[in-house]
Amino acid sequence: MAIDASTTFGTTPLHKRGLPYIGSTLSYVRDPLRMMRRQYDGYGPVSDIDFIGKRWTVLLGPDACEAAFRNADKAFASGDGWGYLVGPFFDRGLMLLDFEEHHRHRRIMQAAFTRDRLEGYTAALQPAVDRGLDQWVPRDGFEAYPALKELTLDLAMKIFMGGDDLASREEMDRLNRAFIDCVQSATSLIRADIPGTRWSRALRGRAVLEEFLRRHLATKRASEGDDLFSVLCHITTEDGERFSDDDVVNHMIFLLMAAHDTSTITVSTIMRFLGQHPEWQERCREESMDLPADPTMSQLEGLTSLDLVMKESLRLVPPVPVLARKTVKETVVMGHTIPADRLVAVMVHLSHHMDELWDGPERFDPDRFAEDRREDKVHRYAWEPFGGGVHKCLGIFFAGAEVKTIVHHLLRRFEWSIDPNYTTPMSYTSLPFPKDGQPVNLRRLSSGRTIA
Ligand code: HEM
Repeated sequence: MAIDASTTFGTTPLHKRGLPYIGSTLSYVRDPLRMMRRQYDGYGPVSDIDFIGKRWTVLLGPDACEAAFRNADKAFASGDGWGYLVGPFFDRGLMLLDFEEHHRHRRIMQAAFTRDRLEGYTAALQPAVDRGLDQWVPRDGFEAYPALKELTLDLAMKIFMGGDDLASREEMDRLNRAFIDCVQSATSLIRADIPGTRWSRALRGRAVLEEFLRRHLATKRASEGDDLFSVLCHITTEDGERFSDDDVVNHMIFLLMAAHDTSTITVSTIMRFLGQHPEWQERCREESMDLPADPTMSQLEGLTSLDLVMKESLRLVPPVPVLARKTVKETVVMGHTIPADRLVAVMVHLSHHMDELWDGPERFDPDRFAEDRREDKVHRYAWEPFGGGVHKCLGIFFAGAEVKTIVHHLLRRFEWSIDPNYTTPMSYTSLPFPKDGQPVNLRRLSSGRTIA
C-alpha cells in the first residue's frame, strides 16, 4: 500500500449526510467501530461526515492515517483540531501546540522523559502501587475500573506531583472529578458555558486544576524534587530554554490528562482479557513470579508475555480511538482534496480491526505480536495506539512502565476470572471506559502460590 503524496490535485471526498448538526455523532458514540466500518465500506478511506456541529474529513485505514501522521506538506495542525474538542480545557498542552513552537516545547519536555528520569519514576511507582493495592478487598464482581482510576490518580499525585501530602483525600477526589469533567467535554453537543452542560462542568474543572497547580508552583520552583512537576519547573535545554510558569501549569494539566485515563483503560482492558484467558494470566504470572517484587524498568521490559498482552489490548481497545487535526491549507490524501480549515478525524481504531491487516482481528491473540509472527509489520501504521509523526506519544515508555508495574503487582497478589462470553459495555462519549466498571471475580492468590 502506498500513499499518494505527490498528487497536487484530487477529487472531493464523498460526504455522508445525516441529521443536521448531529450528523454521525450518535452512531459514533453508540459503536465507533461499526460507524467507521460503514464509513470505510461505503465511502472509502477519505470521506466527509458531520460530527458535533461541524463538517469533518475522516481518514480511515493505515494509508490515510499515515498521510496525516507524516504530514509531508505541513497541512495538518494538531492544536486547532484537538482545540475544537477539548481546547479550553487543555489549552497549550504539548499536543495542542504546532510546528516550530511544538518542536521547541517538545525538546524541553523530552528532558523530563530521559531513561534516567524514567528509571527514577519507575522506582517510585513500586511502593506506591503496593500501597494502593493494599486497599483492594477481593470479591466476586469487584469493579476494577473505578479502583484502577483511583490507583492511577494516586500514582499521578506521587510521581507527577511529588507526594500525596499535597492534597487531602477530599481534594484528590475533587481533582479526579475535575479531570473527568474536562475529558468528558469532547463529544458534548452543546459547546458553550451554559450551566448544567458537560462543557460548563469542564470549564469549572479546568479552573480547579489550574488553581491547585498555581498554589503549589512557587514551592516546586524552590524545591529540588524529582517528581514531574518539579522537573518541569527546572529543566533547561543546552540553549538555556526553560518553561515559564504558565507553560508549567498548561503542560502539567495536559500531562495529567494524557497519562491518567489512557493508562487506566489499558490496565482495565488487560485485566478483562487476562480474566477471560486464564492460560495467558498464568503465563504472565509465572514471569512476574520470577522477578523481584519491586522490579527495575529493565526488568519490567523483560516481561515478554505481558508485553504481548499489552500490545494486543491496545490493539483491541485503543485508549485514543480517534485523533483530531485541522488543515491549515488545502492538501491531497489518496487522491482526495481536503480544503483548508477543515477538521480532520484520524480514525486509528479501524486500522486495528481490519481483516486486511490482521488474522482474525476480533480474536484475543497476543502471540500475533511475537517475533515469529509480527502481524503489526504488515504496515507501518497498522498498529498505532500511540499515534505517529511529530506528535507521537511522549509518554510511551512511562506508560509501559506504569501499566506493567500495576499488572505485575496484581499478578503477584491476586488471581481473577471473567465469564469468557462477557463483552464489556463501553462508553465512547469521551476516551473509552467500561460503563459497568469492569467487574471481575477477584481472589487473593491461593496459598502455596504466593510470592517467594
Ligand atoms: C497507554 C497509555 C497511553 C496511550 C495509549 C497514549 C496515546 C497517545 C496518543 C495517541 C497521542 C498522540 C495524539 C495525537 O497525535 O494527536 C499521545 C500524545 C501524547 N502523550 Fe500519550 N498515551 C498514553 C500515555 C501517556 C503518558 C503516561 C504520558 C505522560 C506521562 C503521555 C504523554 C503524552 C504527550 C505529552 C503527548 C503529546 C505529544 C506531542 O504532541 O508532541 N501519554 N498519546
